[in-house]
Amino acid sequence: MSTEIKRIGVLTSGGDCPGLNAAIRAITRRAVNGHGFEVIGIEDSVAGLANREFRTLTPSSIDQGGFDPLLVTGGTILGSINKPIDALAEVIEAGYQDMGLDAMIAIGGDGSLAILQGHAQHAGWNLVGVPKTIDNDVALTDRSIGFDTAVATATLACAHLRTTGVSHNRVMILETMGRGAGHLALHVGIAGGANAILIPELDWNLDDLLASLERTREERGELFALLVVAEGASAPDGGTVEVVDTKGRRRLAGIGHVVARAIESATGGELTARATVLGHIQRGGRPSPNDTILATQYGTVAVDLVAQGLFDQMVSLRGTSIDAVPLDEVVALGSALVHPDDPLVHAGRSMGVYTGG
Ligand code: F6P
Repeated sequence: MSTEIKRIGVLTSGGDCPGLNAAIRAITRRAVNGHGFEVIGIEDSVAGLANREFRTLTPSSIDQGGFDPLLVTGGTILGSINKPIDALAEVIEAGYQDMGLDAMIAIGGDGSLAILQGHAQHAGWNLVGVPKTIDNDVALTDRSIGFDTAVATATLACAHLRTTGVSHNRVMILETMGRGAGHLALHVGIAGGANAILIPELDWNLDDLLASLERTREERGELFALLVVAEGASAPDGGTVEVVDTKGRRRLAGIGHVVARAIESATGGELTARATVLGHIQRGGRPSPNDTILATQYGTVAVDLVAQGLFDQMVSLRGTSIDAVPLDEVVALGSALVHPDDPLVHAGRSMGVYTGG
């Protein structure tokens, strides 16, 4: 049964990243100017649905007299959450009806899109997904909004670490985010000229890492080395490194320091290692032009899908084309990890970069 579309909702869900606002801007402009829809911005993802917190978005209200801040501002004007909320599914789901929505565009990572797709199926929402995450691990798309900017930010950090490393003959370690996926670390390590890249998908061991550092020392005469370590990479003795917050929730962080300590103690202090955990610096800042362009393409195509009545789809970049892929297939595949045969893994190895595996 086709629904006449008059009013569409948009929300951002999961960890923020640069480019979300550019997507909200594109959705609003295309929906209002291109199709005459009314656009409702839902605050804080499912929390806004549960609490009925929303506002109307118009091209002129977001343009701010031509300053057009959404093009260049990181984060999300709608707010976001990346933890479960204390609300019944029925209360969240009824928010869609209470806001008078005919369709909804959800900008989220793999976890958020799975949750929202569950609600959509249960409550009959007309849903279109837009992939975003600095982890770049949403299935069936080459790129998620935010990844390109995070790679650029962390690559700049590599350049900053290099000068201290060279000046002091140190092993400099950069810990990147990415949860269980190593895309971010792999891209940053290659772009930043790392000597070793440790990612969750590839097992590594300390002896081989040290041997690769020794080869670097032989080539250069003295040792400076740059290591990029994904937060989800395994520790030298197995397992992941986590911190636990006051509510007992665990999150990945600290592997960089563990690797630094392991290198120093295995070499009896002959090598000096310093770790930097880049943390949320990677999620902030002005979106790169590539992310702004991607967000604009995704936003406009998502609205056009709504206008055509094509729901339960996610917009996706494959090669250079923007297409729609079935949201249930994306959700069923879960987090898209780095394949051991990834061309970037091979490129790194051909350059003498230690990646384990
Ligand atoms: O999924 C995005 C991400 O930034 C991960 O890379 C990271 O592990 C996590 O979110 C951090 O979440 P939080 O902002 O809750 O600390």
